[in-house]
Amino acid sequence: MKPNKSLLVLLFSIISLFAKADEGMWLPQLLGKLNESRMKSLGMKISAEDIYSINKGSLKDAVVSFGGFCTGELISSKGLVLTNHHCGFDAIQNHSTLEHNYIRDGFWAPTNADEIPNKGLYATFIVRIDDVSKEALEGITTGLTEAQRMSVIEKNMEKIKVNAKKEPTQDAFVRGFFEGNQYYLFVTETYRDVRLVGAPPSAIGNFGKDTDNWMWPRHTGDFSMFRIYASKDNKPAVYSTDNIPYTPKKSLSISLDGIAENDFTMVFGFPGRTTEYLPGVAVEQIRSVNDPAKIAIRDKALAVIDRYMRKDEAIKIKYAAKYASIQNAYKKWQGEIQGLTRTNAVDKKKTYEAEFQKRVLANAAWKESYGNLLTDLDAAYASFKPFGLARDYYTEIINKIELNAIAMNLNSLVTAYTRNGEAGYQDKLKTVKPAIAAVLEEYDATVDRSVFESLAEMYVTDQPKAYVSPVLLQWLDASDNSYAALGGKLYSQQGLYTQSNLDAILAKPATEAVDAIKAFDALKLFSDIQQTFQKNVLATLTPMQEKINQLQRTYTRAQMEVMTDKKFYPDANSTLRVTYGKVAGYTARDAVKYEYFTDMDGLMEKYKPGDYEFDVPAKLLTLYKNKDYGRYGKNGVMPVCFIATNHTTGGNSGSPALDAYGNLIGLNFDRVWEGTMSDINYDPSICRNIMVDIRYVLFIVDKFAGATRLVDEMKIVHPKKGK
Ligand code: ARG
Ligand code: GLU
Repeated sequence: MKPNKSLLVLLFSIISLFAKADEGMWLPQLLGKLNESRMKSLGMKISAEDIYSINKGSLKDAVVSFGGFCTGELISSKGLVLTNHHCGFDAIQNHSTLEHNYIRDGFWAPTNADEIPNKGLYATFIVRIDDVSKEALEGITTGLTEAQRMSVIEKNMEKIKVNAKKEPTQDAFVRGFFEGNQYYLFVTETYRDVRLVGAPPSAIGNFGKDTDNWMWPRHTGDFSMFRIYASKDNKPAVYSTDNIPYTPKKSLSISLDGIAENDFTMVFGFPGRTTEYLPGVAVEQIRSVNDPAKIAIRDKALAVIDRYMRKDEAIKIKYAAKYASIQNAYKKWQGEIQGLTRTNAVDKKKTYEAEFQKRVLANAAWKESYGNLLTDLDAAYASFKPFGLARDYYTEIINKIELNAIAMNLNSLVTAYTRNGEAGYQDKLKTVKPAIAAVLEEYDATVDRSVFESLAEMYVTDQPKAYVSPVLLQWLDASDNSYAALGGKLYSQQGLYTQSNLDAILAKPATEAVDAIKAFDALKLFSDIQQTFQKNVLATLTPMQEKINQLQRTYTRAQMEVMTDKKFYPDANSTLRVTYGKVAGYTARDAVKYEYFTDMDGLMEKYKPGDYEFDVPAKLLTLYKNKDYGRYGKNGVMPVCFIATNHTTGGNSGSPALDAYGNLIGLNFDRVWEGTMSDINYDPSICRNIMVDIRYVLFIVDKFAGATRLVDEMKIVHPKKGK
């Protein structure tokens, strides 16, 4: 019998649905059970136990959560940590002045004593991960509301945390996985004396800036180095001159043998957040409603800030980190829309859902519990849509206006005073003062006023009136509908945003300070904006969100039960994960095919003398001209970056890229633009992570910066040469 063609097509499309090679962010303690054989078939030469073990030093002991927002890895037995330039950027910026401009010129501590402490920066190790699903879900019955369920689970989690076996220097927390279907306990150890050791100039560490960000081909040396310091007995300690370099249980060996296409790679780190199990209806909302709205708002804010940064060097330093972070997601969302559209992600989800539904209906028990799930999800997301959009408007706009942050901080003092009198006020002051100081450090009233004027107009004109603050509308009316006049009025009360004036107010007795604070217009305005949001958006949105959470949890569980031919991994939630794949180029679009690595010839093709983004430091030009690459280049070629199929996301910045033996070969720092939709729907055809080749990192440290003392600390290996 000849196979029916449409049946073949259907079969093929089902197979390709499940054959998503290498997708997934896996829990390190489950690799042995779920992934080891696949990893070995891709070329891995070590065992799951070498990656995660509670009995011996394993690779996980060389990986840290860097400040809670990035990943870092130990690359010497003296506590040396490698992470991205953009992860160390805030620290580098904080130590920079017009005279010592480390952002522009780079920084290299000549000795340990010159390494600079960083307030608030920490590095967290994962000691152990335990499955505590049973204990966490104890007492959960089907009749509970979301709020009741959460309250039971929170109590359970607290109990698990308190009873967790751990050393006095260790911490514990419990986190939910698979939308709250499973729970894991993490025992951690956090070191809080983390010092800046070195960073290349921005023209290397952030070469190509926003034009190249999220792009391939890439030529950025996106790295910086820190060192963990510990007490004399190698335990966590707050900063002290008595602290000594930390001796890790494990540090990574570094391979200088280079990378070839199809080589096995894995990335070990702390991915922040993904949503891979959404139904098509939710993906379509992200693609056509939420992403476009957020992009439009950021477009306005960026244009304003950029205008000021380009003409004033001091503003450029102050706003550098803020600008980069606003720009970063702005550009990512654009890639996400493109990728989702180009790969027909929504249609693929719908095909998958049709298969799910078919299987559910064919089984009486499933039909009973899951038969209506997809239609319920459709309905829930449809009613959520306008409120979700309003929430995006509120958060995107309000977070860009620093005056709001100042006003809200001051407002919390008034609230504390009203509730608990003088004592409440004084207590609150302890957190409010540093919070305001942190805002002011990176604040310019002229820039902020322009941002306000521009975004306030969007807030008013682009939204249904019900979501707009009545006070803002009144004041706008009183300002003859001029946003400039409104901005002028709001930003005329100088007392609000200079450190000295604020200090003077906060030094007064509570009653007087509260009176002074209440007199600020900004407080009235931003409080009303917040209250309007709470009353007219959040009050409706919150129960809707709870309903969605509950449906998503059931849907996730149902998928795991019904779609047994698919391998499930939990969405990223800032916990330690391993992702693996192979070094590979990709076809970005029709007739555009990308190679898997870049080198310094390509960097020089981008070089534009004097340019804001593409200038190259003189010393690097000389090294290039003389092909002076030391042991890091090969046959006159200096590799810079490479790509692979590892499934990564934000938070994986600074993650080590490891070879088949677990040696460090690169430093993860980005993804390709076409593939940023991997947060929602990984597609092996175009999703690639971008790493800087470790040979380029060491070339910069050694040949460019002359920081040989650091290279001397490292353990260099040559696995391909059998050494
Ligand atoms: N896109 C990378 C990430 O998501 C790098 C961001 C920093 N670089 C920049 N030009 N903004 O974090
Ligand atoms: N640059 C990102 C970060 O800061 C990593 C790139 C990504 O999102 O994959 O974590």
